[in-house]
Amino acid sequence: MQLAIIGGTGLAAVEDPAPAAQSRRTPYGEASALPQRCPLLGDALFVNRHGEAHALLPHEINFRANLWLLRELGAEAVVAVLTVGGIAPGLASGDLLLPRQIVDYTWGRQHTFSTAERPAHVDFTTPFDGELRARLAAAAEAAQLALADDAGVYGCTQGPRLETAAEIDRMERDGCTVVGMTAMPEAALARELGLAYAGICLVVNPAAGRGSGELTLGAMRSVVAAAAPRLLRLLAALAAGGSRRDTPA
Ligand code: HPA
Repeated sequence: MQLAIIGGTGLAAVEDPAPAAQSRRTPYGEASALPQRCPLLGDALFVNRHGEAHALLPHEINFRANLWLLRELGAEAVVAVLTVGGIAPGLASGDLLLPRQIVDYTWGRQHTFSTAERPAHVDFTTPFDGELRARLAAAAEAAQLALADDAGVYGCTQGPRLETAAEIDRMERDGCTVVGMTAMPEAALARELGLAYAGICLVVNPAAGRGSGELTLGAMRSVVAAAAPRLLRLLAALAAGGSRRDTPA
C-alpha cells in the first residue's frame, strides 16, 4: 500500500528526499509544497502541510490540493503528523499518542470536495482508519516507543492563536484529550477521496490553563526537535511493517 506522510510543525522535512512531482498544481489550487519521495521510509510520499518555508498558517493551508495531489501520485494511506497541546491530565510534552476521534471547531476552511451535483455524505463515524491506526500501534511497539494513549480525542481549533483557558475547559467537557489546528478538514477530505488516514500526535505543550507560564513557540519547537528522532523511528518502523486489524471505535 503506497504510504504518504503529511508533516508540519512536528516533522518539517525528511532525510534524502527526492522530488515526486513536477508541479504543485491541482484542480483545487496549489498544494503546500512539492511532494517528495522518501527512500529511507519505504519510498513513502511526504509533504509539509505548512509549506517548505513553514509560511502557511493552519487556516491558510490548501488541504484539498495537498490530498488531491498525494492521491494523484498514488497514495493509498496517509499518516498525518500532528502537534498538539495536552488537555487530559497525565499527558506531558514529548508524549506520542494515537488519536481515535475528532471534534471539529474550525470554520471557513475549504472542507469538502462535495458539490451540489456530487454530494459526498461520507460516513465519518470513525475519522481515523482502524487498520492504519493498528499498523501505527504495531510500529510503535516494534520501534520500542511508548504511546501515552491509543484512543485520543483530537479537538481541532481554528487558530492561529492558541485557546483561552475557558475554551480548553469546554473542550475537556466535550471529551477532547488533545488540541491541535490541522487534523481538520484533512481527515474528512481524505475520507472523501477514499484514502486511509491516521494521525500520530506529538504533545508539545500543556493546553492553555493546564500548565504554568506562557505558551511559547520556542518551547514547542524544542520539544519538536527533541522528538524528531523518535518520530522518524516510528515512521521507519511503519514503512517496514505489515498490517494488523483494529477494533471498531
Ligand atoms: N492548541 C492548538 N494547537 C496546538 C497547540 C495548542 O495548545 N499545541 C500545538 N498545536
